Amino acid sequence: MVSYTCKYCGKAFKQLSQHNAHINKKVQCKIPRERVDDLLKDKETLVAQDTPANTSTLKFIDLFCGIGGFHLAMKSLGAECVLACDIDTKCREVYKNNFGLEPKEDITKLKVEDIPDFDILCGGFPCQAFSHAGKQGGLDDVRGTLFLDVCRILRGKNPKYFLLENVKNLTGHDGGKSWTTIHKCLVESGYRTYDTPIVLSPHQIGVPQHRQRVFILGVRNDLVEELLAFPPVSPVPTSIKTILLDDAPSECSLSQTDIQVIGLWEEVVQHFISNGTLDKLPGFPIWSDDWDSTHSTEGQADFKKKFTKQNREFYTEHKKFLEPWLIKARKNKGFTGARRKLEWQCGLFSKGDSLWNLLLQFRPSGIRIKRDAYSPALVAMAQIVVVGEKRRKLSPREVARLQSFPDSFQLHPSSSVAYKQFGNSVNVDVIRHMAKHLLTGMS
Ligand SMILES: C[S@@+](CC[C@H](N)C(=O)[O-])C[C@H]1O[C@@H](n2cnc3c(N)ncnc32)[C@H](O)[C@@H]1O
Repeated sequence: MVSYTCKYCGKAFKQLSQHNAHINKKVQCKIPRERVDDLLKDKETLVAQDTPANTSTLKFIDLFCGIGGFHLAMKSLGAECVLACDIDTKCREVYKNNFGLEPKEDITKLKVEDIPDFDILCGGFPCQAFSHAGKQGGLDDVRGTLFLDVCRILRGKNPKYFLLENVKNLTGHDGGKSWTTIHKCLVESGYRTYDTPIVLSPHQIGVPQHRQRVFILGVRNDLVEELLAFPPVSPVPTSIKTILLDDAPSECSLSQTDIQVIGLWEEVVQHFISNGTLDKLPGFPIWSDDWDSTHSTEGQADFKKKFTKQNREFYTEHKKFLEPWLIKARKNKGFTGARRKLEWQCGLFSKGDSLWNLLLQFRPSGIRIKRDAYSPALVAMAQIVVVGEKRRKLSPREVARLQSFPDSFQLHPSSSVAYKQFGNSVNVDVIRHMAKHLLTGMS
């Protein structure tokens, strides 16, 4: 008996595993003409499912809510938030301002009996090392971590679904033991969830930020027999230009020192583009301090030895240009610390390449250069991306757009707080994508 049908091409399968293998094929199936009308109807159904009429009965709780990335996504699908919680005062202020809901404070003090009934538990829990005292991977091993509180609430309230987010490294954390423990706890709490979390980044769904995160989706055992595979996403081209404002606050401007240092490195880029000796800058970190250094590398870590050797060879080979450049650069007061290093992550030169039309990030490891298809992941620290073309840093509003927060969202009045909050936040469109799959595509 055939039980599983591909919703795209209509092909039928007896086994779920065959169906999932078909959905996950690299080359996606062709849609027969006669299926097109059906699919269009499906699309209407999916759009209809986005409207409050279909999901307005669903209630969710927003744990570790931050400034409300989950809230925006779930609300856009018509669901209602019945409780939020975050220990950070400034996040709670922003949350209340935008949603009119005062989040509770410390999750560890939240009593299950004080939580209203709800259907979906949402949360990006902080990842901490588990004890593994019991070595079985289970509730005993998560004591003292905030994941314990997620499990405690799941077991106490038995909602239909959960949607959890975490950093990509979660599966590799502590040699995979953390994930084994988390998975076991969720399964033992009465839920079906994938054996490995789903990894997705906003740039894969058309948002110009590279931010790979893991998503753990779960459905209560009694609601489904088996889970359907998560369908692969088709890559969508992106450009940072789609989120840029015409005008940004003056605080985003680059300092004269920054402009001069970028100008110095731009001379290096333009030299190699125009003289044709290289088709790209080296992929290893370019450390100008090492170029003319003579110290012994004995006793240094292997990677450092290698980079020093590569930098010395690069300098020797291109000394005619690099020597006078280095003398000039060292006279510049801004050419200090990590600004003496460049990380070229753009691959081959393209026509018209210039640091003034690429993305730059001042990092402790050097000035990192990337193409402008998408921004590197926003981080909580002060490494705000510089848009070469605009000669300025991204503004808090642009950073909000990279996390798919609407322009109507009220930011924290302090820019440094706002940058930090968005660096910690989830991407709203990615959560929405996951929530749609959770609510309509897992069974
Ligand atoms: C990765 S952030 C989640 C951000 C959120 N998903 C958003 O979209 O803004 C983790 C959050 O957990 C909060 N947190 C840490 N310890 C907590 C605790 N004991 N109780 C409640 N929240 C806590 C932090 O303040 C932080 O905002």
